[in-house]
Amino acid sequence: MTGYPSAEDYIRAVQRPDLVFDRPELAEARFDVHPMLKIPVPASGTTAVVFRATVGGTAQALRFFTREDASTQQRYTALNAWFTERDLTGDVANCRWVDDAILVNGRRWPMVQMEWVDGRTLDRHVEDLVETDDRAALETLAGSWRDLLRRIQAARFAHGDLQHGNVLVDTAGRLRLVDFDSSWITPFTGSPPPSEGGHRNYQPEKRLWGPWMDTFPGLVVYLSLLALAREPNQWEQFNDGENLLFRHRDYLPPHRTQAWSWVERLHDPQIDGLAARLRACCAPGWTATGDLEGLIAEPVPWWTRTAAHPPAGAPPEPGPTTAPPRPRPQPGPRPTGQPMWWQQPTGPQPGPTQPPPTQPAPARAAVAGRVLRAVVTALAWVFGSVLIAGALVSLASSNNTVIAALPALVLALIVLGLVLVVRRRRRRRRQPPGKAP
Ligand SMILES: Nc1ncnc2c1ncn2[C@@H]1O[C@H](COP(=O)(O)OP(=O)(O)O)[C@@H](O)[C@H]1O
Ligand SMILES: [Mg+2]
Repeated sequence: MTGYPSAEDYIRAVQRPDLVFDRPELAEARFDVHPMLKIPVPASGTTAVVFRATVGGTAQALRFFTREDASTQQRYTALNAWFTERDLTGDVANCRWVDDAILVNGRRWPMVQMEWVDGRTLDRHVEDLVETDDRAALETLAGSWRDLLRRIQAARFAHGDLQHGNVLVDTAGRLRLVDFDSSWITPFTGSPPPSEGGHRNYQPEKRLWGPWMDTFPGLVVYLSLLALAREPNQWEQFNDGENLLFRHRDYLPPHRTQAWSWVERLHDPQIDGLAARLRACCAPGWTATGDLEGLIAEPVPWWTRTAAHPPAGAPPEPGPTTAPPRPRPQPGPRPTGQPMWWQQPTGPQPGPTQPPPTQPAPARAAVAGRVLRAVVTALAWVFGSVLIAGALVSLASSNNTVIAALPALVLALIVLGLVLVVRRRRRRRRQPPGKAP
């Protein structure tokens, strides 16, 4: 057996803790069951499934891997020690690696045992605040987020995959981080980076594993929360279940997506400054070299101050060019078939309250063609009518000039015939295929 057990394998296994666990406290664990299905149902991400169980009288999160991961006992032990030493225990879910914890598919697998955080993921929490139009709470949340970043970065801990699913908001409103598979602490300096590169809706193009990898996603979340605090109803338009407001394609130049247009329309100096800063961080080759506080304090390059008119070939900011780690596979449905930046329309995309776009060049040409055809048809009608009238007058005025009037009459009939043929062909072209003219 080489592959990791599936979520279903773990669901089956934990229904008999007495058989699959060796340790007495785990063998006696009581797993929460789904109220309808009456079996343990885990929360899951991309790498693991997490069950809530009561172990030794306290609620615990038991996390089992469903695929290969760089996590090891040594890494998790070092991380947990760092959390205690650096006073981060209130900001993270404390964790412990348990080797050979569970028997599934004929062999034993490791587990991460954590304190259970009673709360919701960041996106669910934000959704509730948006639905109740609680702008003050969204603003407060943005401030708490910035404070959290300040603390963890000062403590030289980098989470490595900051995104809505790895941030829990507990019942007291405190932010707590989970899922440390990609994390970095000072003792990991020089060790090889894990294969996970973080959720791509929160990561820059080039992401270096190290102390400052939370700076970019930190800014993404901070800006998103502040922007939503100004105008909560945009959540419905931009949240796709795998982000807050921004998605991977928003980080690609020339930043003319709807999300940027909307942020710009808020006309809020603080948001404008942060948005310009984020665009600057999207420049090819940019890599974080400091913390979020330092980044926010820096002046932004002039060419990022408005999304609407970035200059062609805007200069990339200098930074290390080490190859980025393999991008993390996305949980859930991923937006597919999105145009790359060079395939996007050149003008700003129409936003929710944007005025209708001006007519593009092909539409203007079509209108000009229609006007020209109408003028030609009108002239032909006038010319034909004059000729017919002339012929009739000639016939009436002289009995002997019938023969002389005939050429004019024939010419008039030919012109009229031509006009009718042209009109008929145009009408047929406009008819949908399959329908009789
Ligand atoms: N300590 C915890 N307390 C409560 N819920 C948790 C805890 N750890 C994880 N979860 C829930 O489980 C989900 C998946 O866990 P996570 O560790 O992020 O797995 P993955 O690596 O697969 O993303 C989280 O989004 C969260 O909802
Ligand atoms: Mg996760």
